[in-house]
Amino acid sequence: MKQAILVVSFGTAHRDALDKNIAAIERDMAASFPGWAVRRAFTSGRIVRKLQERDGLTVETPPEALSRLAEEGFEQAVIQPTHVLRGEEYEKLLSQAEPFRGRFRGLAVGRPLLSGAGDCEAAAEALAGVLPESKPGQAVVLMGHGSPSGSNAVYPTLEDALHRLGRADVRIGTVEARPGLDEVLAGLRESGDSSAALLPLMVVAGDHAKNDMAGEGPDSWKSRLTAAGFQVRCELRGLGEAASVRALFTAHAADAAETLD
Ligand code: CO
Repeated sequence: MKQAILVVSFGTAHRDALDKNIAAIERDMAASFPGWAVRRAFTSGRIVRKLQERDGLTVETPPEALSRLAEEGFEQAVIQPTHVLRGEEYEKLLSQAEPFRGRFRGLAVGRPLLSGAGDCEAAAEALAGVLPESKPGQAVVLMGHGSPSGSNAVYPTLEDALHRLGRADVRIGTVEARPGLDEVLAGLRESGDSSAALLPLMVVAGDHAKNDMAGEGPDSWKSRLTAAGFQVRCELRGLGEAASVRALFTAHAADAAETLD
């Protein structure tokens, strides 16, 4: 039987980040699923066009990739998103996948990284090993993306799970939702920290990490925390650079594959 895993990412036009994060997830997926074809799709039309025009690199969108798999006679397909939560990108993917149900004997969509309390526990363990070490007076601040939907509750759930693992120094905020930087700042003041290490809680350290987190503009988290009197250090690496995090995506794909018959 022909089987495929379609790894679906938002996408990035930063080629180094693409290789270190998205391609690394795809490589691990291929190693964990011998005999399965592993394909790539990006949901961002803007990034797909940019890669095509600038680099001549063709990346399919999920509907394009699914049509091609169906045409090539694949019978089972797992779509594994590299999204962090059940936000609007994930919802969009589910609706893009729906029309293809009848074209495969089995089609399953894996969960994003943080899909409930159990995933948050697992992610906390995966992150605990790769975050900067705890230091007195220093908070580790993670910048998530956030979504307009209600799924942002996973951020405080993940933060709680990290605290229970002994990482009470970790604080999580989001760029586009709540908790935001204001809540993070309030927490930092309460704990009396004097410095902060900033890292993206995103699969790729792309535009948000480079600009909204670590940028020199007055509204970046770095600038605002510096203005508030904190010593700030930024680490620009995506979650996809951590093998422990990549293993969670592979595990989610395996869970989805188990539902196929
Ligand atoms: Co955004």
